[in-house]
Amino acid sequence: MNAPQSPVVLPGPRSCPFDPPPGYRRLREQRPVAPLAFPDGAVGWLVTRYEDVRALLADDRFSSDRERASSPVRRNVFHSEDRPGMLLNMDPPEHTRYRRMLTRHFTVRRMRALAPRIEQIVTEHLDAMEAAGPPVDLVTAFARPIPSLVICELLGVPYADREDFQRWTATVLKLDADEQEAWHARDALRRYMRDLVAVKRAHPDDALISTLITEQRPQMALTDEEVAGIGLLLLVAGHETTANMLALGTFALLRHPEQLDVLRAHPEGVDHAVEELLRYLTIVQFGTVRVARQNVEFGGRRIRAGQTVVASLPAANRDPGEFPDPDDLDLARDPCRHVSFGHGVHQCLGQQLARVEMQIAFPALFRRFPTLGVAVPPERVPMRDDMFIYGVHTLPLTWEVATP
Ligand code: HEM
Repeated sequence: MNAPQSPVVLPGPRSCPFDPPPGYRRLREQRPVAPLAFPDGAVGWLVTRYEDVRALLADDRFSSDRERASSPVRRNVFHSEDRPGMLLNMDPPEHTRYRRMLTRHFTVRRMRALAPRIEQIVTEHLDAMEAAGPPVDLVTAFARPIPSLVICELLGVPYADREDFQRWTATVLKLDADEQEAWHARDALRRYMRDLVAVKRAHPDDALISTLITEQRPQMALTDEEVAGIGLLLLVAGHETTANMLALGTFALLRHPEQLDVLRAHPEGVDHAVEELLRYLTIVQFGTVRVARQNVEFGGRRIRAGQTVVASLPAANRDPGEFPDPDDLDLARDPCRHVSFGHGVHQCLGQQLARVEMQIAFPALFRRFPTLGVAVPPERVPMRDDMFIYGVHTLPLTWEVATP
């Protein structure tokens, strides 16, 4: 059991924009369950091997109650006090009640039914990019608007409010944001959603927020506060994550032209391609957090009740024990069991939606612009090392315009 070891800090910085910081490899090889020093002074644990990460996320001796956890980075919106409806931070059976209520709205069948509308949204944004002409910032012209518009329509959130909620979300997910500014943004988001729920209660429509309000089945009735919490989580998680996968995924494909050729030659293989991009890029860069409910023996370590354990998704997704040549982007890889959407009862609720959006958006983008390229030297693309969710801040792109 535990030989005394000095705690590590979270590895950083990155040496390549697409790879996790190299320190994770050393930890995975030498100290797979390592004592971790948190910014608040607490000592917990960092788990870096694939099998251990899955075991941890499926282990009910660990809680998702982030209120009791230390954060490996500055506190963020999902990491603070009591929030009705914030199912990410709940444990069964409380979590099960919400999850059951929501799962049926996010099934593969329901998300595939959105495909025609997503195709239309993608086409409209490609038309606008083409009309504007190069150079275009992919983040503002394509990657952020598409998932934002889709989640707005699904929830019944007015898309006209996007500037506000996107700005608040960006502040809340920024690691070095001023503490007061972050709390203000978080409260603004909360207030916005509370007001919206009041409007929907008075004037219901057929989108999800109204459905949650009007669903009055036994055990299912939700308070407005709960609906606001769920709506907030879905709005933030629903636009920010997929947006970063679209922009970072495009950057990665443009920097791996031989892989892009595979996608262009075999667009029918886009499902595999998307799974491989999810694995390779693992945008939830600081992993997921759990708290030991009791003294636990895990991975040969003795973890004390109340200690925080971080499951590093980027490290697990590059574990050579699970993925041969893990540092290669290989779109032809067999569908892999990556952990980019987490694992266990909290596994991403919106994963089917994210998949459908990416499966439509990537091929459409590269079909429309066969000569697409990065418009600045690649090292000048600003990376989101400073954000809870990894990606690019901007991605200036260019292409050859056919002369009439
Ligand atoms: C949970 C990643 C897209 C809604 C999670 C978790 C991860 C994740 C890692 C698990 C967190 C944990 O165990 O603590 C991603 C990635 C996405 C994505 C990489 C895009 C590429 C979405 C979308 C939505 C969404 C589009 C909304 C429609 C949620 C919700 C949870 C969650 C509600 C909490 C589920 C629960 O606690 O039961 N996501 N997500 N996500 N995600 Fe996503």
